[in-house]
Amino acid sequence: MHCSLLPLLVSLSPAILFLLPGIIVTQEGLWEDYKYGHGDQDNHNFCTWKCLLFTLQWPGTFCQSLNNVSLCRIPPTVNNWTIHGLWPLHAKNRCDCWPMFPSDVQELKAELTELWPSFVRFKSNFHFWREEWRKHGACAACVEGMNSPLRYFQVCIKLRAQFYIHSLLEDAGITPSCERPYKVEEVQSVLAPHVGDKLEIQCITDEQDRELWFQLKIRLNRNLTVGCDLCTDAEDALKVQPGSRPVPSPGHPCPDQVPFYYFPINHERPQRPCG
Ligand SMILES: *[C@@H]1O[C@H](CO)[C@@H](O)[C@H](O)[C@H]1NC(C)=O
Ligand SMILES: *[C@@H]1O[C@H](CO)[C@@H](O)[C@H](O)[C@H]1NC(C)=O
Ligand SMILES: *[C@@H]1O[C@H](CO)[C@@H](O)[C@H](O)[C@H]1NC(C)=O
Repeated sequence: MHCSLLPLLVSLSPAILFLLPGIIVTQEGLWEDYKYGHGDQDNHNFCTWKCLLFTLQWPGTFCQSLNNVSLCRIPPTVNNWTIHGLWPLHAKNRCDCWPMFPSDVQELKAELTELWPSFVRFKSNFHFWREEWRKHGACAACVEGMNSPLRYFQVCIKLRAQFYIHSLLEDAGITPSCERPYKVEEVQSVLAPHVGDKLEIQCITDEQDRELWFQLKIRLNRNLTVGCDLCTDAEDALKVQPGSRPVPSPGHPCPDQVPFYYFPINHERPQRPCG
């Protein structure tokens, strides 16, 4: 709630501010808050986050990450890494107060459809985008350049273009394969110079106990440069704050010592790309 309310409030006159229930700060106080990103009791977590996670997903393995694999579909046009989301790390999740409509991203629809598709049958692309906006985008919107659905999704599209993962891997001989597993170290050394050394290579474990690469998490500063450093203080402080929890994910960091698979995309059998 607090994430997107403030920009509205700061434009109101002081007289109106005092009338709003629960708001007992001077206009000056509010500006301080807005400017420096402090939170107070009523307003904990407003724009206190420092880092963003840009998460890409690999369609070759995505379906195995669902509880019910039969709900999965990979559109025939999808042949590359796609966007899962851009998340402020440790921001208060869910800012339902900023609704998003199809017209907000109409001009990006073609690009988003290609780069940010939903792989869940009952969930439309727009449904997926709106969910990401509500959960994360509206919380990122306290930062210049991301302060609307259109701008937020534009930033995401730019980031996807900046991180041409598929080509970087391909150039290093790391290509999707049913047979050949890869080591974390190997992939990390190829990607780190481009996405920063805080990257996380995420796997799921399939029913044959194989590790399958399905996501890549790239850590960014607020200004979108790679490699944000979280100080442990901030991490500890945020652990105890209500409403702030890690983004749930079915995956885990691919273990260093176990080689993992980078399966090819199989549109006919996305649930079992390699049989
Ligand atoms: C998986 O989803 C399909 C399609 O909606 C449904 O028919 C099936 O019962 C689901 N299976 C489980 C185990 O939930
Ligand atoms: C995937 O996208 C990259 C750009 O990010 C492009 O160079 C590459 O050709 C694409 N690969 C496929 C298989 O479409
Ligand atoms: C981006 O932010 C980081 C962390 O605050 C800072 O170290 C870096 O100098 C900034 N880079 C630019 C180009 O503003």
